[in-house]
Amino acid sequence: MNKKLFIANWKMNKGLVQSQQFAEELKAHFEKHKGTTDEIVLCPPFTSLEAVHRKLNGTGVKLGAQNVYYESSGAYTGEISCGMLKSCGCEYVITGHSERRRYFNETNAIVNKKVLIALDEGLKPILCIGETLQEHDDKITEAVIDEQLTSCLLHVNIEDIPNVVIAYEPVWAIGTGKNATAHQAESVHNFTRKKLKKLYSEEISLNTRIIYGGSITPENAKELFAPQTINGGLVGGASLEVESFIEIINSAH
Ligand code: 13P
Repeated sequence: MNKKLFIANWKMNKGLVQSQQFAEELKAHFEKHKGTTDEIVLCPPFTSLEAVHRKLNGTGVKLGAQNVYYESSGAYTGEISCGMLKSCGCEYVITGHSERRRYFNETNAIVNKKVLIALDEGLKPILCIGETLQEHDDKITEAVIDEQLTSCLLHVNIEDIPNVVIAYEPVWAIGTGKNATAHQAESVHNFTRKKLKKLYSEEISLNTRIIYGGSITPENAKELFAPQTINGGLVGGASLEVESFIEIINSAH
C-alpha cells in the first residue's frame, strides 16, 4: 500500500466562496504538477459539497461529507441522508468523529448505524476512533480502541470491510498542536490490525487503510507517515490552506 490517502476535514469552516477558491487553487496546483499519485479527499461543510464537486471535476480529487444520518429518508428535520450526499458527488463520509461524539452525544451504537447505512447505500465510511486524554493517561487506550472497533463494526461483513477506512485520531491530539508521535500512532495502528485479524482475517488486517489524524502539520508529516502501517492522514486545521495541505501530502514521500 504505497499510495497514501489524505483527507481534508474542514469542520465548520469556509463558506461557499472560500470553498470554491480552495478547490480552484488545488486544481491549479495539480494541473501544474501533473496530479498526485496519492488519493486525496476533501470534506467541506454540507453547504459547499456540490460546488466543490463541480470545481474538482477532472482532478481525481474525491469528495467526502463530515457526517450523515442513519435513515434513508423521512421526517428528520435538519438531517442529511446518504442518498443526498451521493447526489452531491460524495464517495466518502466521516463517521464517529470525536467532535460528534463529544458535542452531539454520538455513541458507538449510533456510529455503527451510520457505518452500516453508508456501506449499504454505497458510501465509504471513514470510521474515527481514538482515546481521550484521560483514557490515554489511564493507559487504557487499547481497551478503548478494542471496544470502539467491536461496537462500531458490529454486523459489518467481510465483503464490505474493504470499503471502510479507519482513522485513528487520539482526542488529545486534535486541534491541540500536540500530535501523537509516529511510534505512538504505529502502536495503535498495529493493535487495530490485530483486532481486524480477529474480527475478519489476516488479509483484511493487512489491507485495511488505517490513517492517522491529530495536529498533523507540514513539519511533523514526514515523521508521522514514515511507518508502513500508517496509510495516510486525516487533516483538520492544516487542510484549510492549499499550501499546507499540499506540503503535508508531499512530505509523506
Ligand atoms: P487537527 O488537524 O486540526 O488537529 O484536526 C484533526 C481532526 O480532527 C481531523 O478530523
